Amino acid sequence: MYLNNEEEQILKGEKGTVLQKAMELLNSLGTIFGAEKLIEIKSAQISGVSYKNIGDGGIDFLQNFKDEKVKVKTTLNPIGFDIEYPKYLNLPSEFIAKQIKILNLYKSMGILATYTCTPYYFENIPSFGDNIAWAESSAVIYVNSLLGARTNRESGVSALAAALIGKTPFYGMHIAKNRKATINVSLKITPSLPDFAVIGLLIGEKIKNGIPYISGIRDYTESALKSLGAAMNATGAIPMFHAEMITPEWKISDEGLEKITIEENDIKEYRERFNTHKDPELVALGCPHLSYSELKDIYLFLKNKKKKENVELWLFTSRSTKQKAYNYVNQIEAFGGKVYADTCMVVAPINLKFKVTATNSGKAVYYLRLPNYSDQDTVFYDLYTLLEMVCA
Ligand code: F3S
Repeated sequence: MYLNNEEEQILKGEKGTVLQKAMELLNSLGTIFGAEKLIEIKSAQISGVSYKNIGDGGIDFLQNFKDEKVKVKTTLNPIGFDIEYPKYLNLPSEFIAKQIKILNLYKSMGILATYTCTPYYFENIPSFGDNIAWAESSAVIYVNSLLGARTNRESGVSALAAALIGKTPFYGMHIAKNRKATINVSLKITPSLPDFAVIGLLIGEKIKNGIPYISGIRDYTESALKSLGAAMNATGAIPMFHAEMITPEWKISDEGLEKITIEENDIKEYRERFNTHKDPELVALGCPHLSYSELKDIYLFLKNKKKKENVELWLFTSRSTKQKAYNYVNQIEAFGGKVYADTCMVVAPINLKFKVTATNSGKAVYYLRLPNYSDQDTVFYDLYTLLEMVCA
């Protein structure tokens, strides 16, 4: 990969060992993927922030970078608890202390304490055509597909290296011709909104990687498309999708691609795989983090209803969204639900408190049931069925 004079100096360690390490990483990545050069980025999003995910090894790794500042706006994924309620899961004090240590390391690098996987709503909003270096697969697929920004599926480590240098290798999704669809996915039904999470899981499992061109979507919402993309990246590794007549770059795709179909029965059967039909102890919503309008819809449904005693309702969103939607949040909490910021049902160790968790999220249901991770018996329904389940 071609490096200019300044980049060569950094690689040789002439600007310090921290930047040298970051440049070594970008140089290796660019060489492996055949990048011709580095390009400037406008922002970065870092994943691997919860102590549950990165552990002590992650802390040791981050110590290496603490003396350098990021060069571009850089935001952080959710952490292991809500900063305002660190004790809500009866977390061991060691977990809390180590999580705080991780956050302080990121802060020392000038990284913003956003703790959300949906920074594209308020904190870090890319524009069409922006080159960025984002980790967090649900956010990567969202910004590539729905906003037309350009990022590869970075790891937390490569996104951090890119943030410290302010550049990323020019390959993959940064190059227009690589953003074309690689496979045609034809929906043989007109999906309803709750089907999107299941369709995402199905597409991810069927194609594993590549870029699907999805035809057959008629009615949709931003929330349904967000859920579709997040679920695809639970079962697959998909940087972007095109939805015919919907997403901004759908027209760039070629004709004559290999085609797979998804039928009504596939959706029914696949949903059942994740549904134990047990009575949930917890209904968890907000993977990816809830938007302002999703919180509003939940509030409208719960308005004038009474909560059941024996099931908890926890919602997850970003702190910015929670603040902007404080009216709805107050009403949901008056009903008996909890609206947490900074964290989510997957990166918080909810297994300390619950064994049976219900959700409408394809991504969450996939991770929640993994043994050695959250180890939950999962219940998988659409939003309004779940909200009915928490009402008396
Ligand atoms: Fe976000 Fe947590 Fe889901 S980070 S995408 S809410 S697993």
